[in-house]
Amino acid sequence: NKKTMAILVTGGLGYIGSHTVVELLKNNFEVVIIDDLSNTEKFILENIEEVSGKKPIFYPFDLKRKELLKQVFDAHQIEGCIHFAAFKAVGESQVKPIEYYENNLFSSINLLQEFRERNISNFIFSSSCTVYGQADKMPIDEETELKLPESSYGKTKQMGEEILRDFAAAYKKRVTLLRYFNPIGAHPSAKLGELPIGIPNNLIPFVMQTAAGIREKLSIWGDDYPTVDGTAVRDYIYVVDLAKAHVKALQKLINSTQEKVIDIYNLGTGKGSSVLEVVHAFEKANDVKVPYEIKDRRAGDTTIAYANADKAEKELGWKSETSLKEALRTVWQWQKYLETRDN
Ligand code: UFG
Repeated sequence: NKKTMAILVTGGLGYIGSHTVVELLKNNFEVVIIDDLSNTEKFILENIEEVSGKKPIFYPFDLKRKELLKQVFDAHQIEGCIHFAAFKAVGESQVKPIEYYENNLFSSINLLQEFRERNISNFIFSSSCTVYGQADKMPIDEETELKLPESSYGKTKQMGEEILRDFAAAYKKRVTLLRYFNPIGAHPSAKLGELPIGIPNNLIPFVMQTAAGIREKLSIWGDDYPTVDGTAVRDYIYVVDLAKAHVKALQKLINSTQEKVIDIYNLGTGKGSSVLEVVHAFEKANDVKVPYEIKDRRAGDTTIAYANADKAEKELGWKSETSLKEALRTVWQWQKYLETRDN
């Protein structure tokens, strides 16, 4: 009774996860999703099916439920995993650090125990440019020295990376750490995107809701940074481009002839944009107004972070393809779609 090989995607109904599931299905991977729906909604699964014309297998549970996790590995021939599932709100992690350590670390460890016991390789981990802190020089390449992140969230990402390095080394496994810069945008179908749950902390969801009149105005956290216009600079990478990088990284791991691999890639555009540049680009791209006011700096923010993503281009054959303007257009289409759902 030979089962077909499948890729496990944890957090596969989340923002980056859902876009990645669509790209995996497009590339004919069988996909098994585990997602506890703590930061997404069930309709995202239906929309994945609509957009891709295929059905991933879906299990709704928390990865800390080891006995349920075992059943998934018993039921499917898992040949690799993309592990997105995690709490990710920087501010919240500062007031609930133990919840963040428990959720983000135990879920990773439970997965790795299954991988070890069943001798499975090919593990891709969602990491973040937060592991670089405020880097001394731009752009940031993968050799840049790591700094202990300020937030507990960031620390769970850095610890996750360390756990995976030890896992790869001790058990001779293939592991890829993907360090995302700032993912933005929605699927071109407007059926998938970042679900705004509560008051958004991130820039783009807040801009989107301000343009829609849900929020009165955007607060821009600081205009006295040593940058082009005084506002902080980030590398905004389109989520569908980001999703495609996961497929390339997975194919590289699966096709590798090496027993042990620890690959690390920055995923960004290589270009920095200031907060004001993004706000104005959003207004122009969508012909809308985004009222804003300048406020004090937000605690823990870095001044500037953008990637050198040459390694991903050289080794994965991947690069960012979508302009900031196009990405911001998809954000507005997504907002329009959410409005039709509300009515
Ligand atoms: N910003 C505003 N107003 C807002 C929201 C954000 O001015 O209402 C500014 C921020 O101060 C920052 C920029 O917009 O300069 C981007 O902020 P985000 O919160 O969207 O993103 P961050 O760069 O702070 O955070 C991202 C990821 C985290 C990761 C972090 C690492 O969301 O997962 O990068 O630096 F930890």
